[in-house]
Amino acid sequence: MSSSSSVLDPRALESLLQNIKETQTLSGLDDIRISILGKKGLLTEHMKTLGALSPDEKRTQGAFLNSFKSKIEEALESQKKLLETLALEDSLKEVWEDITLPIRPSISGKVHPLTQAKEEVLSFFTKKGFSLEEGPEIETSDYNFSDLNIPKHHPARQMHDTFYLKARNPQNPEEALLLRTHTSNVQIRQFKTKKPPFRFVSIGPVYRSDYDNTHTPMFHQIELVALEKGLNMGHLKGLLTEFLKFFFDLPELEIRLRPSFFPFTEPSAEVDIGYSHKDGKIVLGKAENWLEILGCGMIHPNVISNCGLDPSEIGGFAFGMGLERIAMLKYGIPDLRSFFEGDLRWLNHYGFSWGTSPSLFGSVVP
Ligand code: PHE
Repeated sequence: MSSSSSVLDPRALESLLQNIKETQTLSGLDDIRISILGKKGLLTEHMKTLGALSPDEKRTQGAFLNSFKSKIEEALESQKKLLETLALEDSLKEVWEDITLPIRPSISGKVHPLTQAKEEVLSFFTKKGFSLEEGPEIETSDYNFSDLNIPKHHPARQMHDTFYLKARNPQNPEEALLLRTHTSNVQIRQFKTKKPPFRFVSIGPVYRSDYDNTHTPMFHQIELVALEKGLNMGHLKGLLTEFLKFFFDLPELEIRLRPSFFPFTEPSAEVDIGYSHKDGKIVLGKAENWLEILGCGMIHPNVISNCGLDPSEIGGFAFGMGLERIAMLKYGIPDLRSFFEGDLRWLNHYGFSWGTSPSLFGSVVP
């Protein structure tokens, strides 16, 4: 091939660019790309002839071929984008849907009272800087008992009426796994895997082998935990008082802390709220009588050290209560078992409409 035949006519570029612009299919574009840039393509063939040119010619012809190449590539790319956009627009024409259609007015699902109560509790504590944490319902006896300062043969293990499973603890095959009897396992799991300070709530199912009008084998607990420097019973009482008045929507609700015992808190207390009788009904507020509502206390130093933290450095408080119990009291639901019967008439009566405040998304907490 003579040196002059390697010179590509600049006008060829114009007509190739024009071809690209007129191509209407992606496969057509691909054919053009191969005919110019492919192994045997026009440009590739010309590149091969550069070696035979004089250094000066090589420089100018090389630069020309390079800019030729990038112009072709650009044109191919922009035509490809254009064709793809047109194809997308075409397909959208077919799958178009009218999202402005009104919803069916007959949608009438109800929010279960437990869901409502959970959202009300969370709307308060999340505003106070507590996160929501979860733990497993199938648990080892270490997380459910031992780490919470309830050693083997401690009577509290019997008091919890534990359901043991056939499955064994993979770390200790001697030992059966169990259904957690309380949400306090979440404390241990959090303390062992994260760094203080801690502020969290956990809400979820717990299991105890018990069944009558005030006990079901599965129910829900809410546990609140704070672990950081400088906390005392005063903080616990203040937070509980504010929470209970908010939850029951009773600024005058009377509250008392009564000394009690839990292996995982020291000191421990049970919290009672005041009520009186009116026309055969319980009215919360003024304390003619007291109703026990939750257990609480300062987290036991043994629990803190069991989790590898230093109880002389850090301390905190926790409380645990039954979600069904506070929902029954607030919404006037007489029978615990009815929560789980799935009776639609019951749900229609006690359920809530969607969007009823407060919820996590529209809260009435100041
Ligand atoms: N875990 C206790 C129970 O289920 C409740 C509780 C939690 C008490 C936290 C004190 C502190 O009985």
